[in-house]
Amino acid sequence: MRTSPLTDRFGVELHDIDLSTINAKTYASVRRAFEQHSALLFRNQTIDDDAHMRLARLFGPIEDRTADERDEGEAFKVPQVSNLRADGTVTEELDLHTLHLKANMLWHADSTFLPTPALANILIGRVVTETGGATELASTRAGWADMPDRLRNRIRDKGLWHRYAHSRARISPELAALPMFHKWPDQLWRAVWRNPVTQDDALYIASHAFAVDGMEAKAGAQLIDELIGWVTQPPYVYTHHWQVGDVLIWDQRAVLHRGTPWNYKKPRVLSSICVSATTSDGVDAMRLIV
Ligand code: OGA
Ligand code: MN
Repeated sequence: MRTSPLTDRFGVELHDIDLSTINAKTYASVRRAFEQHSALLFRNQTIDDDAHMRLARLFGPIEDRTADERDEGEAFKVPQVSNLRADGTVTEELDLHTLHLKANMLWHADSTFLPTPALANILIGRVVTETGGATELASTRAGWADMPDRLRNRIRDKGLWHRYAHSRARISPELAALPMFHKWPDQLWRAVWRNPVTQDDALYIASHAFAVDGMEAKAGAQLIDELIGWVTQPPYVYTHHWQVGDVLIWDQRAVLHRGTPWNYKKPRVLSSICVSATTSDGVDAMRLIV
């Protein structure tokens, strides 16, 4: 397999792979690269929604956050991160929908607020902007490895509380009040996720994290900010400038990500499937009994 590194510390581009016809043997190599490098880039892919779903199912169960909102018999649709409406117009900058996209610009891992969090996001460039609108990834494995002991020891054996509405409240109280951000109870996860395949530890945190279990609220919030600040320093960050047909996959156990601003008068559409973490991904060990 021909590969090129995305940064010195993590991430790899895989060449000569057609993801729309991927077989079990190629998936095994892709999966090894995923465990080892935490982020994978494939360029120039021709991959429709069905092939996107087939690819996702190789990684694990497809996450379906809106099953409760669909009518009986209505099929799952690939979620889109998009400012484009069905009539071809784009959502206004201060639209609640655009504000939701802006909340994605806070460093996060996906779905830490769900009873089962995500293992991976498989993101595909559909409509891209010429400038702005990059997606940034930060390795919380590299950041954890380099973290000074005085900071690491404050969080190593602790748990973090996660809530979807918390990240939305940082952008707009009106946004945070929407029912879609209140469907799940607060979740408690260990702050360190050990990869069961490589045995590497990574900080597990997100914009959704609002408290350190057992710590006074203000001190906990400060510690969360300090930890995210540490692991998102430039040496741990990859900035992805989108082209149509790019497929970017990252390991949510070991990577934070965020969107970046663009000219909101321009359309930007990414297809996104999250895959849920399972026992073999180490999720059971992340649950803290309280
Ligand atoms: C996501 C996400 C950021 C972006 O798809 O989960 O956070 O760049 N996307 O749009
Ligand atoms: Mn996201």
